[in-house]
Amino acid sequence: MNTKDDDKRAGNLRAALEQPIFNRALGKEVGTGVLDYEVYLKTNALYALQTCSTELTVPDEHLFQVMHQSQELWLKEIAFEVISVIDALDDRRIHEACGLLDRIVVIQQCLANEIRILQTLTPDTFQEIRRNLGNGSGLESPGYNRVLIAADAAEHAFDALVERSGLALLDLYRGGETRDEMRDGLKRVAELFVDWDEAFQAWLVAHFMLVRRTIGVHRKVRALDGFPTQALAPRMTKPLFAKLWDVRVELTQSWERDGGHAPGAPRPSAGGETAVAPPAAAPRSTERAPPPRVTDRPSAPDAVPEP
Ligand code: HEM
Repeated sequence: MNTKDDDKRAGNLRAALEQPIFNRALGKEVGTGVLDYEVYLKTNALYALQTCSTELTVPDEHLFQVMHQSQELWLKEIAFEVISVIDALDDRRIHEACGLLDRIVVIQQCLANEIRILQTLTPDTFQEIRRNLGNGSGLESPGYNRVLIAADAAEHAFDALVERSGLALLDLYRGGETRDEMRDGLKRVAELFVDWDEAFQAWLVAHFMLVRRTIGVHRKVRALDGFPTQALAPRMTKPLFAKLWDVRVELTQSWERDGGHAPGAPRPSAGGETAVAPPAAAPRSTERAPPPRVTDRPSAPDAVPEP
């Protein structure tokens, strides 16, 4: 049975969290909003962005707000970083552009991982919170819309640089073994754009699963603004940088088997001599005997058609 003290503990903490906290190491109260840290980061204004605990419909509404607000901030940050990426690309500062793109990729990956936190929200609790959302739509997310226009602008800057370098996108991947600093740098940038795109899509896929487990994805389920949840499925893998994905297709389409080595055949060494294949290692006593050879199967065709 709960004692009077047990009943008070949660209430006491709630009240204590609303008050300034004395930090013994500092010998000062934290939470008044006047310390340099608090002034610089505007922590009081930041905390005021969430509905106060006594007005929440359910406690999980706090998580719902913090999650959306933090995702908005990181999306804003991505778009902000893209300004510098474009600046660096326009000035041919490839190394710098790579560093910035790497940062964007990490943020985008964290955004996808963060979605997992909201998966702890059960559907019944979300139905309570949903009443407070008006006709709000995820498509209205300013952070998301910023990222879309930023990605578009970054793609234009990259295309322009590739063109100014006298190259086509496909050339970046067709250089073979010859080294060319500009081309290698541009290829690195291209691959970082693909990393970003992959992480962006992974974020939307994680979001799709969140929607599915929270409100359901079904022809009968619509968002608050009437948007059918089923329509999210084809959208989540729509690329930011379609041309970079198309390059892969082009490379594979123009691929030829000629010039390769049959599996197990001896390969010429770098000096032009044919390397002698090492003798197959004798199975150790603990290893299982190889499976019996199947002799009645038709021989494999030259090229196995891919789906
Ligand atoms: C329980 C949590 C969530 C639910 C039930 C939910 C539900 C939905 C639904 C139904 C849509 C379809 C479009 C519309 O709303 O009209 C949508 C789209 C969207 N939501 Fe969420 N959402 C959740 C969390 C989030 C979070 C944390 C973010 C982060 C900013 C987010 C961002 C978006 C974006 C960007 C779209 C547009 C996606 C697209 O263009 O396909 N959502 N969401």
